[in-house]
Amino acid sequence: MIEDLWYKNAIIYNLDIKTFMDVNGDGTGDFEGLARRLDYLDALGVDTIWLSPFQPTPNHDNGYDIKDYYGVDSRFGSSGDFVEFIHQAKKHGIKVLLDLVVNHTSRQHPWFQEARKGEDNRYRDWYVWSKKKPTNWNKGMVFPGVQHRTWTYDRNAKAYYFHRFYDFQPDLNMDNPEVRTEVSRIIGYWLELGVSGFRLDAVPFIIESPDPGLAEHEMKFEYLREMRRFLQWRKGDAILLGEANVLPEEAENYFGKEGDGIHLMFNFFVNQHLFYALATADTQPLADALEATRNVFPSCQWAHFLRNHDELDLGRLTKEQRQKVFDRFGPEDYMQLYKRGIRRRLSPMLGSRQQTELAYSLMFSLPGTPVLRYGDEIGMGDDLSLKERDAVRTPMQWSGDFPNAGFSQADKLVLPVIDEGPYAYKHINVEDQRRKPDSLLNWMTGMIRLRKECPEIGWGDWEILKTGMSQVLAMYYCWRGNSLVVLHNFDEKPHEITLSLKQKKEYKLIDLMVHEQSIAEANGYHKITLSAYGYRWFRTGDLSHLLNRKKNEGGVDEGKM
Ligand code: NOJ
Repeated sequence: MIEDLWYKNAIIYNLDIKTFMDVNGDGTGDFEGLARRLDYLDALGVDTIWLSPFQPTPNHDNGYDIKDYYGVDSRFGSSGDFVEFIHQAKKHGIKVLLDLVVNHTSRQHPWFQEARKGEDNRYRDWYVWSKKKPTNWNKGMVFPGVQHRTWTYDRNAKAYYFHRFYDFQPDLNMDNPEVRTEVSRIIGYWLELGVSGFRLDAVPFIIESPDPGLAEHEMKFEYLREMRRFLQWRKGDAILLGEANVLPEEAENYFGKEGDGIHLMFNFFVNQHLFYALATADTQPLADALEATRNVFPSCQWAHFLRNHDELDLGRLTKEQRQKVFDRFGPEDYMQLYKRGIRRRLSPMLGSRQQTELAYSLMFSLPGTPVLRYGDEIGMGDDLSLKERDAVRTPMQWSGDFPNAGFSQADKLVLPVIDEGPYAYKHINVEDQRRKPDSLLNWMTGMIRLRKECPEIGWGDWEILKTGMSQVLAMYYCWRGNSLVVLHNFDEKPHEITLSLKQKKEYKLIDLMVHEQSIAEANGYHKITLSAYGYRWFRTGDLSHLLNRKKNEGGVDEGKM
């Protein structure tokens, strides 16, 4: 049954255990704290948690430098606490995805420590080495400005090792079958402990075959298919959610021509054009980005997001477009990072409740699976005094009445809570917002409920409708004889638009948020008003006559799974 593809309409919530809820009072969040907050996540409507890395780590890159793939860092609890958390999550019907960080290990990982010992060491070939200094030793850095090389000399090893990220994150050699077997073992281990899949970190780098001196590395897409086969052999409905900021034309290689690669992939391309639309009110590049990423195998899907734990990466925009987004959302140097992005949270960046709602309403309506970042549901702010991406990683703000926002009772925290300015926890916290009917939290809860009631978005065919106004994006979805029309006005001014739906006179568009409807005039025209930064969701009868493509050409159909 097609409904078995649970990820098509899941609501994914990303959180970092270390900054979510600290129960044992050591200043760092833990599994017990997270387990106690499952009621909150359930009530919000979240049905899938993507958990940032929690394995033992020296923690030089927020846990993305793992030194034991089979453990739980003792700061967060024990393996027993992890299993208990999974058990509680299951009771709430919440699935859990883990971050699978296998492009690289920590330099402290015993495999790397062994590999350094000599050329004949059993682990030597688990990493990527070059005896001579590669000519491109200072090319291809992911963190320009902070990272200065991709090949670093190791005195013990008497060779250079490759690291796509920081020098404390040596790349594993995925061409070595032993490494791929170990990766399968890691997948198998966590599946056995009850997880529903993985957010696959740094996918393009996992599958590249680095060759010293070569600028272009060969990409081994078959490794993704191999990983997927193993995953599904062990657990039929487990998924891979890929982190790959790639061009639209490359996406098919990742999803697989037959849908036998990654199930879900973050749509970085749309994300960047979405921020361009928010900054300029020009929706045409966003519409083009949606069209450019339209064709994916029916059982696969894009994941849409606004912000995540990294910088807002704008590297896919043109220089002029990027500058406009910088000017509007991150004008100061200290707000920018790696020469391509902005290290801010959503609410302070957008600066108004109206635009925040517009952005989230849009995200929930894009063809794909929505992914939220913890704290964005209450409009948390950033702390730009913290280094690099830590600015957007401060502790969850539960309460205004308790010290440390109710996150922890410790004197010293893993990262400081925001306690100054308009985003201080006294002003922005769950407890207050739970009580106020018109809070962002209650608005978000309603929005999630609405998204769940519109399965057309995950399953259906979609088109962009002409509005004659570049400030307004109009989309509709069709699935099983139902249609949904969703409108977003990116402008600071209200607009009236005319939609031609070629419906019979007097057919109705029923507003799903307020008690209103629009009745078709002659020729099926609707005149609809949108407030400044306004958004409207309408349900109506079958609009499949408007589809540019044959029905089900792109939407899911059981024969194509
Ligand atoms: C991508 C992660 O999102 C980022 O936080 C991390 O620094 C790199 N991968 C390296 O693992």
